[in-house]
Amino acid sequence: MLKDKHIAVYVTGGIAAYKSLGIVRALIKQEAIVQVIMTDAAQKFVTPLTFATLSQHPVITDNFTPQTSPDDFIPHIQLALWTDLAIVVPATANIIGKMANGIADDITSTSLLATTAPKLIFPTMNTDMYDNPAVQKNLQTLQEMGIQIVEPAEGFLAEGMTGKGRLPELSVIMNAIENNFTEKKLAGKKVVVTAGGTKEAIDPVRYIGNRSSGKMGLAMATVARDLGAEVTLITTVDAPLAGMNIIQVQTASEMMQQLQDVFPTTDALVMAAAVADFKPLHVADQKIKKNDDEDLFTIELTKNPDILKTIAATKNKQFVVGFAAETQNLLSNAEKKLAHKNADVILANNVANEGSGFGVDTNRITLLQKNHEPTTWPLMSKIDVAKKFWDFYINR
Ligand code: CTP
Repeated sequence: MLKDKHIAVYVTGGIAAYKSLGIVRALIKQEAIVQVIMTDAAQKFVTPLTFATLSQHPVITDNFTPQTSPDDFIPHIQLALWTDLAIVVPATANIIGKMANGIADDITSTSLLATTAPKLIFPTMNTDMYDNPAVQKNLQTLQEMGIQIVEPAEGFLAEGMTGKGRLPELSVIMNAIENNFTEKKLAGKKVVVTAGGTKEAIDPVRYIGNRSSGKMGLAMATVARDLGAEVTLITTVDAPLAGMNIIQVQTASEMMQQLQDVFPTTDALVMAAAVADFKPLHVADQKIKKNDDEDLFTIELTKNPDILKTIAATKNKQFVVGFAAETQNLLSNAEKKLAHKNADVILANNVANEGSGFGVDTNRITLLQKNHEPTTWPLMSKIDVAKKFWDFYINR
């Protein structure tokens, strides 16, 4: 997808600059043509020589010295015209401020100002700097200008504290880059995805839940969005995803209710949520206290609605996809679900197998559809499973 694409990688002065080396490598592996531009501050963290070696091109570091890349002599305008996609990684508060206010005082800010190609930035910095209203206002301005912004991830920061400000994982970065070159094959389609395990309350502090991380559903929603679909994600887990309508729910009943509202106008439903089959019959108003005399405690459960089966029974044009999470007899159990739930497709996985269980980033899927032999895909990342599934949907 990235073969022969001209990607300008602007590296500004943050500690995450060293991680940009991995991005350049990944772009080169995909046969993109990469031109790295570094600010003075970025060169304090990593040398231009390292980037030049990995990108197979001299690095541009100033406005005034004649350069020899990628064609011959490249002042900022030629660089801007050459660019298919400009990425700023890491993007410091400084470059964000300059971009938002049209300041052009070095090769980086000047070229970015002259570039009309799509721009994608990855802000990374200390949490308090990121949260500062000045930075947030500048980011808002950039968003209004149509500049793509990938939010920083949360986690351990270089200064020793934990917070929001880290560069996201490489797969997230590459997905955001590739998204600029993806053909929008789901344009005009309305897609609904459910994700995460439902939480069925026992009392105000406890619930019955399951081990689902929601990652498969989030991947399905992300890829559908990237292919141009109008996506509604009904989720029990946090979903820091832009460009889609996100509805947070907790219980199966709430999920069902939200789904009933959107289903009539939906083209495709992907039920990736792990819905609890039962919920407590009575939800205690107050926290349940343990009793010293009793070693056994019983919670009476009542059946939840089978959301997939109920919704799929009302379908007309909708394409309905269910999952089958099994620990044994994968095919026979999944075939029963295909028949009983009125789904067009069941994506079955053995959650007891390494690499396809809950919480991991990979999955091994067997696709079942009526009147077809099941097909098993190799173990792959959940994003790749989602890509393969939507490809199947588009070409079915
Ligand atoms: N599902 C649903 N409502 C439920 C239970 C499951 O909509 N109450 C959906 C899930 O989202 C999934 C599919 O049905 O797409 C299969 O879910 P799974 O948990 O594998 O199977 P169950 O139907 O719950 O059957 P069992 O637990 O007996 O395997």
